[in-house]
Amino acid sequence: MSIRAEERDIIRELLHHVEHKSTEMLPEVGLNPTSNYTDPLKLQREIDVLFREFPIAIAHRSDLAAPGDFLTHDDTGVPILVTRTESGAVKAYLNVCRHRGARIEDEPCGHSLRFTCPYHAWTYDLDGALRGMPQPVGFDAVDRNERGLVELPAYETHGLIWVVPSPQADDIDMAAWLTPFDEQFSDLDLGGHVVFEKWALHRNMSWRLALEGFQESYHFCSAHRESACSNYLDNQSVWADYGPHVRHSVPLPSLVDLREVPEGEWEYRRHFMTQNFVFPANFVQAMTDHVYVHTIIPTGPGTCVFQCMMLVPEAPVTEKIAQYWRANYDVVRRVFDEDFAIGEGIQRNFDAGVNDSFVFGRYECGLHFGQRSIDAALAGEIAPPRR
Ligand code: FES
Ligand SMILES: [Fe+2]
Repeated sequence: MSIRAEERDIIRELLHHVEHKSTEMLPEVGLNPTSNYTDPLKLQREIDVLFREFPIAIAHRSDLAAPGDFLTHDDTGVPILVTRTESGAVKAYLNVCRHRGARIEDEPCGHSLRFTCPYHAWTYDLDGALRGMPQPVGFDAVDRNERGLVELPAYETHGLIWVVPSPQADDIDMAAWLTPFDEQFSDLDLGGHVVFEKWALHRNMSWRLALEGFQESYHFCSAHRESACSNYLDNQSVWADYGPHVRHSVPLPSLVDLREVPEGEWEYRRHFMTQNFVFPANFVQAMTDHVYVHTIIPTGPGTCVFQCMMLVPEAPVTEKIAQYWRANYDVVRRVFDEDFAIGEGIQRNFDAGVNDSFVFGRYECGLHFGQRSIDAALAGEIAPPRR
């Protein structure tokens, strides 16, 4: 198993911290106003910018395996239809008829070469083109080429399907956007994985509270005392700040053993969980032998949906292997539930009005980085690169 230079640096840094009984720290404590978690106007601004202008991971490539496969997605508040076209490309559209606005497709997923609107049966193909309408004489002045489905930017990159939930004048350069993760995601081979489980949880908590659960490990040995705590070194995370993205490396106890191993024999993945924050709301969380992809989307003030895929390297060929993955899934569901129960309690506590601000500790580095990236995007200082 090869190791990348960045991973070697992460291990060196961690072994330094282990030896000196220290952990990565920023110079200053941070403050975050609690209105960032409660103010409906701030949330609307976040939705308008973060969840309209940036790519959101909504599926694995295997969800659209063959031409004609489609899926619909509504959780961003935008009705989205995604297709695999005859040429094999992935395309996304507003799931909105160009006649008088009906939903073109209601099924969550399926296979179809044509989409026929249920209202007056206008028909569209996989490329979004308007192919037919009953009794066209009444629309003889309408240019059909002008009445195709409205396209949204869609990308199939590193095995995931990414959609920008609003039409964009210029194409986004996804390769450039994901450059900091190139080596790691290529090594993970996400596209070669299969989906073992896929689920969505609607929660009564700000999407930002859900996000923050993956940006520090300070809480592991209190919030996850009986579940995840013993699996990791306590509060020894290391972050690579890619601005706006962040790589958050959480070491396993076995990392300490590398002190006795020559650098040339180091391996990274078997000693880490890596929570990769792909701005603004996606995580590619690499475990030692499988991967979770989460997307956290606000659904209203104080509510969000947490969408998750568990990816495994290949479809289980024996019941024993299936049980192994099932056991991993059960643990992760428990850990996430522990996080979300606390998050929902925080959200309820906002009503008490006790805290004007949250305090981000110097070693809760991912919280600082995430907050800074959100602020910068809302100020118009960060945008995905354009072609
Ligand atoms: S609204 Fe779709 S055909 Fe009329
Ligand atoms: Fe957690």
